[in-house]
Amino acid sequence: MVTIRTIEPNAAPEKIPFCETETGRRMLNLFTYCQDAPELGLITGKPGVGKSTAARHYVRSAPGRYLVTASPATSALVPCLQRIAEAIGAHTKLSGAGALAAAITTALEAEPQSPMLIVDEAHHLSDDSIEELRILFDTVPMGMVLVAGRQLRDRLDGNPKQWSQLTSRLSAGLEVDGPLPADVDAICSHHGIDDRDARTTLRRAAHHPGALRTVTKLIGVAAKLAGTAPIVAAHVKDAAHARGLTY
Ligand SMILES: Nc1ncnc2c1ncn2[C@@H]1O[C@H](COP(=O)(O)OP(=O)(O)OP(=O)(O)O)[C@@H](O)[C@H]1O
Ligand SMILES: [Mg+2]
Repeated sequence: MVTIRTIEPNAAPEKIPFCETETGRRMLNLFTYCQDAPELGLITGKPGVGKSTAARHYVRSAPGRYLVTASPATSALVPCLQRIAEAIGAHTKLSGAGALAAAITTALEAEPQSPMLIVDEAHHLSDDSIEELRILFDTVPMGMVLVAGRQLRDRLDGNPKQWSQLTSRLSAGLEVDGPLPADVDAICSHHGIDDRDARTTLRRAAHHPGALRTVTKLIGVAAKLAGTAPIVAAHVKDAAHARGLTY
């Protein structure tokens, strides 16, 4: 089922507490740079490496930062602009892309400081939606970062002429090929996992599809198995077994 998700800045407490992973830190640095400069950035990467977690943490840390999550339902221009308008609190009684774009521009220009718009799952956006975002970035002094699966980078690289206006404006980019061992260690530390073999098993698990998502789920099951005892390798291996995985 297609869902539309818009995250309000500074809304409810983070569902997933942010751990200071090395990859997360690099993404936060890129967000900060793009907002302060202000510049246009692109983060692409494999599933589960922590892109959305870092984006959510960034927007919740200060006002004037907005996160919109694209989806198949919001890929076309009008629904995409509607989501952005909703996220930043822009209003118009008129309908249509032109009125929405104007309302968004006015609302962002009224921000006391250079605002930041992060569009997660940006690979879902249509060509027109991406182009409109590029024009919004040109019009308003603001930071903007597109966060997406690798397929967006392939789409841009696959047609350099079509995308040269966008790519020539990109001044910060990060491709996250997979989680770093240090990322897994940071999550282990957050969950109080000191056992070396448990950490080694979880580092191995992070190489599999799902990356840190898999690691976190394994830790959740291992914690239940461990009860009040510290998590050790046997708990992680049993957790993997329970999930039908072998590491
Ligand atoms: N910095 C972090 N702190 C805590 N947990 C994290 C962190 N990064 C990733 N995780 C864990 O990994 C899971 C997957 O992360 P996230 O959803 O951010 O990945 P993603 O790169 O956006 O993946 P996808 O491409 O599938 O959307 C999170 O739900 C969380 O459990
Ligand atoms: Mg994500």
